[in-house]
Amino acid sequence: MKVFATRIIPAAGLELLEKAGHTVTQWTENKEMTVEERIAYCKDHDALLFAGGRKIDRPLLENCRHMKVVSLLSVGYDNVDLKAATELGIQITNTPGVLSNATADTAFLLMLSAARKAFFHHKRILNGEWNFSTPTANLGVDVEGKTLGVWGLGNIGYVMAQRCKAAFGMDIIYHNRRRNEKAEKDLQARYVSFDELLQQSDVLSVHVNLTAETRDKFNMEVFRKMKPTAIFINAARGGIHNEPDLAAAIEQGIIWGAGLDVTNPEPMQPDNPLLQMPTVAVLPHIGSATQETRNAMARVAAENIIAALAGKPVLNPVNH
Ligand code: DGY
Repeated sequence: MKVFATRIIPAAGLELLEKAGHTVTQWTENKEMTVEERIAYCKDHDALLFAGGRKIDRPLLENCRHMKVVSLLSVGYDNVDLKAATELGIQITNTPGVLSNATADTAFLLMLSAARKAFFHHKRILNGEWNFSTPTANLGVDVEGKTLGVWGLGNIGYVMAQRCKAAFGMDIIYHNRRRNEKAEKDLQARYVSFDELLQQSDVLSVHVNLTAETRDKFNMEVFRKMKPTAIFINAARGGIHNEPDLAAAIEQGIIWGAGLDVTNPEPMQPDNPLLQMPTVAVLPHIGSATQETRNAMARVAAENIIAALAGKPVLNPVNH
């Protein structure tokens, strides 16, 4: 059967699909498809491997109604109109688990980068400012022994907490829809209310999905409840924080800094004030972007397609 991939996909996934006898067409151009191109490709294929691009909305899904599966090369699915997909009988799948380590590593990298003003110091070098310095100039802060607050202690949040505990002996507190017994036992993580999480965290790392409930959750009212020394980390979805409020909170000393792998909107514009702040580190949504992880994700995405096209249960159903 014919599979359309919206980007060039990692070799591991391509090989699996071809070995299963499917023909894969990849979008190889270095620009977004037009709406017309998307529709034409979808109409002509039996499955879609969504590896990036515009939203998977109802108009697109209507042109995919003949497809058994739309397989996402991501764990997040906030870009998909799930209601429309379900109504149209299209199976949506994702790639949870295999990207937890890499994404948690990105959160960890951002935590240290913000704490040590790493991106700011890198800019100083680029600007030829590696000059006379004093023992009190441009200091960062330690994270050793501090409190990590995790909002959303699922797969990725767990690995972030594990890394922080092992590397820096950080105390772990968390707020979640459900208690995480494994984290409580293995990491001595303490369950706290959302407000306690805000009040007690030295580093607050967000690992929830973007939903109507979590959208814009970190706004000025919430930042005001945090410590003035707190570092806010978001490697989940940019829509979870209000970006002008975040910039204002750091500017006004309401919180200390932030590490963002996701922004709102994406891409972040180069003139965004956050990019000029010494205690802020921003990355362009590279959470899962390692060779090993992207190959693992491509394998899972391919296996979901292979199962669906063979009429078998998929590994990672998102809707039904
Ligand atoms: C994911 O897998 O959801 C990553 O954030 C890429 O979108």
